Amino acid sequence: MHTLPEPHQEEVKDASIELQVPFHRAAVGEAEVQAVSEVIRSGWLTMGPKTFEFEEQFAKYVGARDAIAVSTGTAALHLALEAAGVCAGDEVLLPTTTFTATAEAVTYLGARPVLVDVDPVTMNLAPEDAARRITPRTKAIIPVHLGGQACDMDEVQTLARAHHLRVIEDAAHALPSEYRGKRIGQISEFTCFSFYATKTLTTGEGGMVTTESPTAAARIRLMRLHGIERDAWKRYRGDGSWRYEVHEAGFKYNLTDLQAAIGLVQLAKCDAMWQARQRIAQRYSDALSSLEELLLPEIRSDRSTSWHLYVLRLRPNRLRVDRDVFIRALRARGVSCSVHFIPLHLQPYYQRAYGYKAGDFPNAEQQYCSCLSLPIFPGMTEQEIEHVIRAVKETTVESRIVRQNAAVFPIA
Ligand SMILES: Cc1ncc(COP(=O)(O)O)c(C=O)c1O
Repeated sequence: MHTLPEPHQEEVKDASIELQVPFHRAAVGEAEVQAVSEVIRSGWLTMGPKTFEFEEQFAKYVGARDAIAVSTGTAALHLALEAAGVCAGDEVLLPTTTFTATAEAVTYLGARPVLVDVDPVTMNLAPEDAARRITPRTKAIIPVHLGGQACDMDEVQTLARAHHLRVIEDAAHALPSEYRGKRIGQISEFTCFSFYATKTLTTGEGGMVTTESPTAAARIRLMRLHGIERDAWKRYRGDGSWRYEVHEAGFKYNLTDLQAAIGLVQLAKCDAMWQARQRIAQRYSDALSSLEELLLPEIRSDRSTSWHLYVLRLRPNRLRVDRDVFIRALRARGVSCSVHFIPLHLQPYYQRAYGYKAGDFPNAEQQYCSCLSLPIFPGMTEQEIEHVIRAVKETTVESRIVRQNAAVFPIA
């Protein structure tokens, strides 16, 4: 497997730092253990009643017409694109600032990912840049709600209507998020969620497609399990039949009842987990707003974010160090951060396959060079939150360019 070198793997943690704040710790506990145990005791481990219950509850939670549970967020994107009729030779618009899965799913169908620059404030796909890249081959657009803040969905929908594009939202980060009073999951024809280990709702691995189209829902249900007719999963159960028909060459993308059992417990506490992340975000923003070397996340007033990520941006002309050094300094203080994301056009595969190069997407590159994601997860203790704030403040103060006659603020 090709992986980019982690720039600071060589960093040795300072043993004198007692508190180490991880980037993420999953909010799972005894209730999840109990739920999984019950499934094990039931004797039916793979897709079955728990999965269908999870789908039903999930659809209700986001206000979608239908929800189909699948094995990963990547599988969700693949199945949605397939159901939308994307095929070889088509072009699909998506932001360069995203995880590779968004574009990779497009390539599964032989279609071409067409990268789009991002808005400098939200770091989400810029609809006006997307408009410039539409050709007669453009079939679909994938807005990605980066970190949880919804994209400009009205503009995306207007563009899609004008050019007959299918809209597939990548909502891997956006549970629960809202745009103009509507929860993400009920706006477009397709919305794809991820339940990967670090996401706001986790089943370890997992995903969900929500759709407003009954035809698309039926197609996705068929294709997620080998293209076999709907009740194929029952064929080893007493209430099933051994006879089955294969209608398409589908995929093995189903979720299991073991995972769905975790998902149901997580869904029941989704609001509480969201409130916990909101509170942490507020603490960070209150504590760091006086540091003019930092740009804090700006959430537009007509939308809300899941706070999957708290993305901080450094103002390069105010600091003596770059983002990588800043992250290293935080790590030395016991705080693990991440970066979301290395723009796809800077990755070797997308350069080799599609000819992208550094300089192609100036906004995305500028944001990439200055951004870092702080730990934000529901189980963070007061001590951990305080520790992150102090570490960011100390690192900022020690790295700031002190201008003559400028007041130097003490660390609160
Ligand atoms: C923006 C985005 N899209 C898609 C995915 C893919 O989700 P999964 O890992 O569940 O396949 C991820 C996962 O990290 C993601 O961050």
